Amino acid sequence: MYNPFSLEGKTILVTGASSGIGRAIAIECSKMGARVILTARNKERLEETLLMLDNEGELYVADLSNLDDRNTLLIHLSHIDGVVHSAGITDPVPFQFITKERLDTIFDINYFSPVFLTKELLKKKILRNNSSIVFVSSIAGLLCSSVGGSAYSATKSAINGMVKGIALDLANKQIRVNTVCPGMIDTGIFDNSGITQEQLVEDSKKYPLKRYGKPEEVAHSVVYLLSEASSWVTGTNLVIDGGYTLL
Ligand SMILES: NC(=O)c1ccc[n+]([C@@H]2O[C@H](COP(=O)([O-])OP(=O)(O)OC[C@H]3O[C@@H](n4cnc5c(N)ncnc54)[C@H](OP(=O)(O)O)[C@@H]3O)[C@@H](O)[C@H]2O)c1
Repeated sequence: MYNPFSLEGKTILVTGASSGIGRAIAIECSKMGARVILTARNKERLEETLLMLDNEGELYVADLSNLDDRNTLLIHLSHIDGVVHSAGITDPVPFQFITKERLDTIFDINYFSPVFLTKELLKKKILRNNSSIVFVSSIAGLLCSSVGGSAYSATKSAINGMVKGIALDLANKQIRVNTVCPGMIDTGIFDNSGITQEQLVEDSKKYPLKRYGKPEEVAHSVVYLLSEASSWVTGTNLVIDGGYTLL
């Protein structure tokens, strides 16, 4: 059956696949026919994701901010047709309390890890020509921010800017490079952030569509960017925010 969104025959690496958006991306890619390779630090939660897949999959435990773990992961990979960088953290802190250490930690996982993992995937020719690279970024840093969100926004902003240059550098290989930029998505990412449930409910009312997004709604846009349906799309930051940044 004709389906330009199909991922049949493709192998996709998904980071941050042990929960939230990364898990939903892995599940939706699998539903669309991809063989999915999962990675994150928590083995148990990765195994849960693996059980949720429709198709073949495998998992590798790795702390992506650790160079040795990244290198070990690379040893296990042969050829892939796409990578989705979803691993990430928030660390809400008022600007006056930012330290170099805190910035290093958040930049390590949100920026340096996906950037250098991508570089190694290319250098080792694991990413095939015609492949697609997707970074899960954010509207934070692109179009807005939040109180205490300056460091997080900086990491995402750095990714949003960098994809444009990477897209140009890889265009001769027909490798496409894009981000998805979600607004608030209902995952556990804010569980230990000090933001209360009441604050989150109140905040969700500010969205024109009157709710936060769901992980699958981000996953569907990632499927689009990985598939032939987006074959002429590169260097784009795709906003998925229920209209939040229109106001
Ligand atoms: N939720 C939102 O509202 C929202 C909005 C915009 C953008 N985003 C972005 O979406 C991405 C996913 O967020 P989420 O909401 O799905 O959060 P989440 O449920 O907390 O997922 C974060 C993922 O990152 C992995 N991770 C964190 N540190 C890691 C490390 N050092 N090495 C390897 N994996 C690591 C975690 O796995 P382990 O703990 O198993 O390592 C987990 O799978 C993030 O990049 C986030 O910035 C989220």
